Formats: sequence, C-alpha cells, structure tokens
Amino acid sequence: MKIFLDTANLDEIQQASDFGLLDGITTNPTLAAREGRPFRELILKACEIVKDGVVNAEVVSTDTDGMLREGRELASWHPNIVVKVPMTPAGVRALHVLHGEGIRINVTLVFSAAQALLVAKAGAYFVSPFLGRLDDTAQEGLHVLSEIMDIYRAYQFPTQVLAASLRGPLHVVEAARMGVHIGTMPFKVFEQLFRHPLTDVGLASFLKDWQKARKVLGEIITTTGVRTAGR
Ligand code: G3P
Repeated sequence: MKIFLDTANLDEIQQASDFGLLDGITTNPTLAAREGRPFRELILKACEIVKDGVVNAEVVSTDTDGMLREGRELASWHPNIVVKVPMTPAGVRALHVLHGEGIRINVTLVFSAAQALLVAKAGAYFVSPFLGRLDDTAQEGLHVLSEIMDIYRAYQFPTQVLAASLRGPLHVVEAARMGVHIGTMPFKVFEQLFRHPLTDVGLASFLKDWQKARKVLGEIITTTGVRTAGR
C-alpha cells in the first residue's frame, strides 16, 4: 500500500519524506487554508519535497467550466500534480473532459460504492472514499471501502482506491488488508503507525540490562571510533 500524507504542512511532509516512506500527499482547501501562504507556492514546494510521488491539489469551483479552468491550471504547475474534483454531477462532467485531455483526476468526497462505480467508469485516476467521516455518521467506513474494492476487482477498473479520512492505525491496517492502493493519513496517524508500547518497554529493558553489565561488556565502538551503544 502506498502511503500518502493528508497535509499541506511542509514540515510534516519533509519529516515523512526523511523516512523514505512517503509516496505522495493529499491536500484539500481546508488543509491549504491552514498554512496561510500562496497556494501555488505551497503546492510547488510540496512537489519539490515529494519528488517522484504525487501531490493532490483540489479545485474550488463548483461548476464544470470553473473546474475545467482550474484543473488545467493546476495540472500545468507540475507533472506530479493530480487534480482533485468533488463527487458532484459537475465534478464528474469535469472528470470526463479532463481525463480525455490526459489530466489525472482524484474524485474526492466519495461516501458510497455507487459513487465509486460512477467515477471509475468516467476515468478517475484515484477515488477517495472518506472512512472517518462515514464513521462519524454511524456508517461503517471500512464496509463501504470493502464494497468498493469488490466492485473494482470484479471489473478490473484501473482507478486506484485512495482510502482517505483515516483516523487511526486500525483504519490503515484494515485498508491494507483489503489491498487498497493508497492510504492517506494525517501526520499524527503516520506517527502512530511506528509505535507499540512493547517496543518502548523492550528497548528500555535492553538498555537497563546493558548498563548494569557495562563494566564487563565494554563499549561498542565502530572502526571509525564512533560509539554506537553503551554510552
Ligand atoms: O483530505 C481529505 C480527508 O482525508 C479528510 O479527512 O480527517 O478531515 O475527515 P478528515
């Protein structure tokens, strides 16, 4: 599963990229507005950090003509940009035209398998079902995701499923078990994936035992003389 960060914060993008784990980012108008800087500059800086990965940038028009204008403009900024359009009739019309022009489209705000079926047929590059927001309305986001995966597999649609609005590690793991192509998550969830209390307890106990026997064990020193443990 590819890992995308759901953020427009350049510091978070850089941190995730430093692990070599970042395949792309998703932004939306809310996330971009939070950063308080020109959108084009923000998106281009993100492209520089993410390098070979994709950067998703969303239109804010609600009519097809406006989406077409914005979509073409966004796509012209950098080859790694994928244009996000909302799951509305106007958005699907824009998807159809922009897809025909070779522009990659991510259809966002998808909340049902029926919507996902339509956008795959219309040529979406990514479909973004929002799991957490479905859970917030007492519907099971993971269930909708599995319906989408079943349909896409049955017809071998090339549209990649981008599980969005992931609220915790369980969402990420369950999405990965279903074989979704991409999971996009806030930086907080990305950090949570690293952690397990037994890792911390185990490491503390290893180091404590090492310290107790340090006199006998000596120190680990590399050939370059850098001490790597037993400090
Ligand atoms: O980028 C859109 C999506 O992932 C939203 O997540 O947490 O605001 O529901 P959230």
